[in-house]
Order: sequence, then C-alpha cells, then structure tokens
Amino acid sequence: MKAEDVKKIAVIGAGDMGHGITAAFLMGGFAVAMRDIEQEYVDRGVAGIKRSFDRFKSRGKLSEEACADALARLSTTVDLAEAVKEADFVIEAIPEKLELKQSVFADLDKHAPEKAILATNTSNISVTDIASATKRADRVIGYHFFNPAVLMKLVEVIRGDQSSDESIQLGYDLAKKIGKVPVVVQKDSPGFIYNRVNEPTLLLLSKILETGSPTPEEFDAAFKPIMPMAPFELMDYVGIDIAVHGLNYFADVVSEEYKPSPALEAYLESGNLGKKTGKGFYDWSEGRPQIDLSKATTEYDPNHLVALQLNEATKLLEEGVAEDAAQIDLAMASGGGAPIGPFALGEGIGYSVLLEKLEEIHKKFPLDIFKATKTFKDKAAGS
Ligand SMILES: NC(=O)c1ccc[n+]([C@@H]2O[C@H](COP(=O)([O-])OP(=O)(O)OC[C@H]3O[C@@H](n4cnc5c(N)ncnc54)[C@H](O)[C@@H]3O)[C@@H](O)[C@H]2O)c1
Repeated sequence: MKAEDVKKIAVIGAGDMGHGITAAFLMGGFAVAMRDIEQEYVDRGVAGIKRSFDRFKSRGKLSEEACADALARLSTTVDLAEAVKEADFVIEAIPEKLELKQSVFADLDKHAPEKAILATNTSNISVTDIASATKRADRVIGYHFFNPAVLMKLVEVIRGDQSSDESIQLGYDLAKKIGKVPVVVQKDSPGFIYNRVNEPTLLLLSKILETGSPTPEEFDAAFKPIMPMAPFELMDYVGIDIAVHGLNYFADVVSEEYKPSPALEAYLESGNLGKKTGKGFYDWSEGRPQIDLSKATTEYDPNHLVALQLNEATKLLEEGVAEDAAQIDLAMASGGGAPIGPFALGEGIGYSVLLEKLEEIHKKFPLDIFKATKTFKDKAAGS
C-alpha cells in the first residue's frame, strides 16, 4: 500500500495524544475514526479537537469551511471493531502499559483489514514487544508524536525488529502528507532519538539537586537569557513525576546510573510535582516563576548541555539507531528546544570546546553516561 491509497485512519484512544493525532490527520484531509472505551472520553476528545480548531481559526490558520469539512470527516465510537473495520492505517494512543497495548493489538489484528498498518504511539515500550501480539509484525511500526500532537512537527517512525520497509515508508509518507517532519528510527531502542538525547540532561539536573549547589534558580538563571524555559523550570512545567518516571525507566533498561537522586525523589514524595500542583522547584501559584538572573551560576553554561546532547547523539550513531547525524539533528530541531540539532551546534561551537565541557561534567559526576564516546573524541581531534 502507498500513501495515496490510504483513505481511512483509525485512532485508538481519545486522550491527550489520541485527540491531537486525530486533529492532525483531519487537518491533513483524511477521514478518521476515533475510538475510546467510554462515550465520556470520546466526547472529551472531540471537545479537544474543536478547541484546537477554534484556536487555528482565531489565528487565521483554518477557515470556517475547512474546519467544517474536517469535522465532517470525523467519526467516533466506543467499539474497536467498528473503528477499524475499513481502516488503512491505525494509530494506537492508549495508556503506556505493555499488557494493555498487547491486548489491544491482538484485537486490532483480528478486526482491522489484512492490509492495514498498525502503528503505536508508545513513548518507551518496545515496538517489537507490542507487535508480538499480532500475526502481522511486518505491518506494525512505532509512530511517536510529541505533545501537543496537532502542533508539534516531529514524528519518530520506529522500525520494530520485523517491520517491513514498506510499512516504514508508508508511515513516513503519511506523516509528510499531514505536514509533519518524520524521522526514521532504525532500531527499536529505549527513548528512540529525541527522548534518549535529552535524558542525560535530566540525569545531570537530578545529580546537581543532590549536591545542593547550584540551586535550581541559580542554575536556571544561567540559561534563561537564551531559552524560553530554563531546564529546572521546564521540568516543573512538564511535571517532576514525569521526569522521575523517565529516569527510572532509563535506569531499568539502559543503565542503573540513571536512577533518580534521593533529592529528586523527595519532590515526588512531598507531592510537589511542579506547575500542576502549584509548587515544585518554583512556586507556580501566581503563574510562571520569576527567575532572578542576577543569581546565575558561573559553574554551568548552555554548552554543557549541548555537550551532553551531542555525546548521547554520537551513541545513537554508534548503535545504528539513527541513519546519520543529519537525521538526529532533524529530530532534535523538530521536537522542540533548539532551532538546530547537536551536530550542527558541534560544528558551530567546535567539538573540542564541547568535549572540554563534557569532561568538566564527568569530573564532577564520574558516571559512564557522561563519558565521551569514541566518535565524540574523534570529532574533537578533527578526524
Ligand atoms: N502525553 C504525552 O506527552 C505523550 C507524548 C508522546 C507519546 N505519548 C504516549 O501516547 C500514549 C497515550 O498517552 P496520552 O498522554 O494520550 O494518555 P491519556 O491518558 O491522555 O489517554 C489515553 C486514552 O486511552 C483510553 N483508553 C484506555 N484503554 C483503551 C482501549 N482499550 N481502547 C481505546 N482507548 C483506550 C483512555 O480512556 C484515555 O482516554 C501513551 O503510550 C504515551 O506514552 C504520550
């Protein structure tokens, strides 16, 4: 099947990601059937789609007619078989639990047309493990959108151990058709590209917190002038629970060194999870925190974080997770944060400058994760 043959999309799950993915495909001109387990959740998803469309309309990015046309192509149901019976491409966006995803994939395999491709929006679970619940592992792929899916450009198209080239190509082409930036992840590897490259930064923040110095505000003040959201502020914004969960996941599947520090865990235990609870590293009760730039630490600067990203990115090359440096840069630049990726930054700043920054971090926290890779060292040596 080719992208031009795809007429009907089914989205399983109408939560944060499911409704955003549905909205993105509706805006891309597709007919979408969206399914959740209760009518109430379906209705909430539809309300979310309408809210997004209203925002686009108010900014002049969607006309009244285009909006009506998109909504006319949406159908909703609580019945899985009904949702997928004519689908060409199915995207699952249900909670991040392996057994649940496997049981839904077994049902999808039973009810979706033989030729249909089944895609999972999992953040972390192995695509291969999910695909094993079906008899069509060649037609199962990972399809990782970013939140909010209707706006964020990056879609990681992940190759499970048995995904066929044709399935990957179809996922890639469809993402392009709806105006996204697809990047193929060549290996079913923890955190895929974007989250993996960012994880060492979270680990560094977790370790700094444990030492007590610099404080989150002193640290953030050194970054705030060039970042819309400084690192600790961002962790507060996303949720400290999400950060701890991510670190624990990486500790389980990548390296024990990722284990969150007791100082970070303490936030979880106290229930101060950041913006959503009104308090985390900062007080959010009156809106976004005011960071006092005069408190900026001189111990860390943005190049330290670029160095961490670049080092992790070189591991993805060494492990064959990404095809080349350009694909990693594309993923990092489209997933949010910096306008260009770590390799382009490396070229601009100088690999040897960044290697020194990485070595400073490694000296403070002698973890293997912070150790420079051979690729990084070779680049710094100019070879
Ligand atoms: N939220 C994010 O930032 C983000 C980003 C990328 C990927 N993801 C991944 O996307 C997936 C969904 O996350 P979310 O944030 O949208 O979760 P969510 O909790 O907002 O939504 C999940 C929805 O799935 C529904 N559901 C549960 N079982 C179902 C079933 N059998 N059939 C149909 N619907 C069912 C739930 O009722 C709920 O509405 C997860 O795998 C998550 O890891 C999340």
